[in-house]
Amino acid sequence: MGRSLVIDNIGLLITNDPALGRGPLGELTKASVVIADEVVVSVGPAGQEADIQIDADGACVLPGFVDSHTHLVFAGDRSEEFTARMAGQPYDGGGIRLTTEETRATSSEELTRLTARRIEEARRAGTTTIEIKSGYGLSTEHEARSLRVARAFTPETTFLGAHLVPAEYRGKTDDYVHLVCNEMLAEAAPNAKWIDVFCEEGAFDADQSRAVLLAGKAAGLLGRIHANQLGNGQGVQVGVQCGCASVDHCTYLSDADIEALASSTTVATFLPATDFSTRQPYPNARRVIDAGATVAIASNCNPGSSYTTSLSFCIALAVREMHMTIDEAVQAVTVGGAAALQRSDIGRLSPGSAGHAVILDAPSHHHLAYRPGVPLIRQTIGPLVP
Ligand code: NIG
Repeated sequence: MGRSLVIDNIGLLITNDPALGRGPLGELTKASVVIADEVVVSVGPAGQEADIQIDADGACVLPGFVDSHTHLVFAGDRSEEFTARMAGQPYDGGGIRLTTEETRATSSEELTRLTARRIEEARRAGTTTIEIKSGYGLSTEHEARSLRVARAFTPETTFLGAHLVPAEYRGKTDDYVHLVCNEMLAEAAPNAKWIDVFCEEGAFDADQSRAVLLAGKAAGLLGRIHANQLGNGQGVQVGVQCGCASVDHCTYLSDADIEALASSTTVATFLPATDFSTRQPYPNARRVIDAGATVAIASNCNPGSSYTTSLSFCIALAVREMHMTIDEAVQAVTVGGAAALQRSDIGRLSPGSAGHAVILDAPSHHHLAYRPGVPLIRQTIGPLVP
């Protein structure tokens, strides 16, 4: 066994294990957590011992954040597009093509360096598990390359060749879908765990989305989907019918969509920083939670619709704008994100789970919403990069 570590003198510990403490968050006061070989071996009162001691000094400690939706492999930025949007231009996803041009023109070494910088930023913001999509390559060569870059940082990699039809296939969407489902998928699959598709008017319709998800499944990939981001559509229904682990965005939900989510194991993942950055309305998460669906919150870090790695910011938005309680929002970025990635080893601090933790510069997790914009992550424990 390697050297053990104790986080001691914890004022408030959120375990997310109701068997260990009070309420659904399994809260303990005056606690300590012992970690060995990156696994939690003991949760108990303050004063436990280990080889290395970290003094939380009475602060709140949480499971490390799980960011289940990002697009970190890209070059360039689209701050001009954001500026224009703040002056009234609508968001339609068309900027994906600009980022695709810039990403294709950038060397693999530089893409790796850019991704590493964003990963480090996310880690400083408390994220200890991250999903990364391709989707700015949109050719067999460049999608496969993006996934190789992403795989060096995380096992949670997602093939998103069906992000948008690239310029060279304009007007030939079915041909492009054929490419994605065949040659591109074959090159992408060795470095992908997940397959994803942007099911939206102007991107891929319900039949095309189904075809992509089913082809991915046949190649051994698990499904997730971008759904109902810019308007009501069939994305949520397609995602649930295809057994996706998660439907992401869920900005526009009908009663039937909520019912479908509630009666399935598919997680509804909200991306509130996107609604912020695109001036979309915020979804009413209360209705989804009250119906009985499992929810997650992710950053959707990308250069177009959401250029942030801060899940604290997302928590604050979800609480202020989406009718979630602070406890629900904190669960959504920890166990919720874990559920969206079909992982039971992360998002909680109980014996046997990953030793990924965040020490706040605050006495409780409520400060994450109460003090928006303040860097409250004092220390992130657990490697984001394996
Ligand atoms: O999740 N909706 C599609 N993909 C990203 C946006 C990508 C971009 O605008 O570059 C999203 O919002």
